[in-house]
Amino acid sequence: MPPPPPARVVTLVVNGRQREFLTPPCGSLLTALREKLGLTSAKRGCGQGSCGSCTVLVDGKAVLSCLLAVETIDASTVETLEGVAKGNDLDEIQQAFLDGFATQCGFCTPGMIMAAEALLSAEPEPGRADVMEAMCGNVCRCTGYQPIVEAIMTAARLRAAGGTP
Ligand code: FES
Ligand code: FES
Repeated sequence: MPPPPPARVVTLVVNGRQREFLTPPCGSLLTALREKLGLTSAKRGCGQGSCGSCTVLVDGKAVLSCLLAVETIDASTVETLEGVAKGNDLDEIQQAFLDGFATQCGFCTPGMIMAAEALLSAEPEPGRADVMEAMCGNVCRCTGYQPIVEAIMTAARLRAAGGTP
């Protein structure tokens, strides 16, 4: 029997910090974040691309980290929820989720917020339809979706007004 393919070294800039680690062939970005780098905000819900709870940003774009082989994004920039806050202050999207009761158990919340971060980076003044479309791959099992949409609209208004009051 042939030997298994070797692990390989991957280097990423994660939340502004260069990180280097070994990954087995086809190891997912989600597994690398959680098990190699100790960043557990991205959640393994379905593990097959259906729930959005593992959403993070790769080079500014929202991706499902459970589906992405980390070796294919060597040298990329990754942002997770751990890197979103501004020092000790929540960013506008986090604050709007908190204030707007857009989270209950919180399992889906990191993925929701990262999808919202990607949306507001690309479209700072989204309409409600834009928000609903951007969030359609993120499943929540305990809130209604309305508070989530409202929170993202609120965060967009806060950012347009110059930030958290
Ligand atoms: S865990 Fe990645 S989409 Fe569900
Ligand atoms: S807040 Fe519980 S799954 Fe969304």
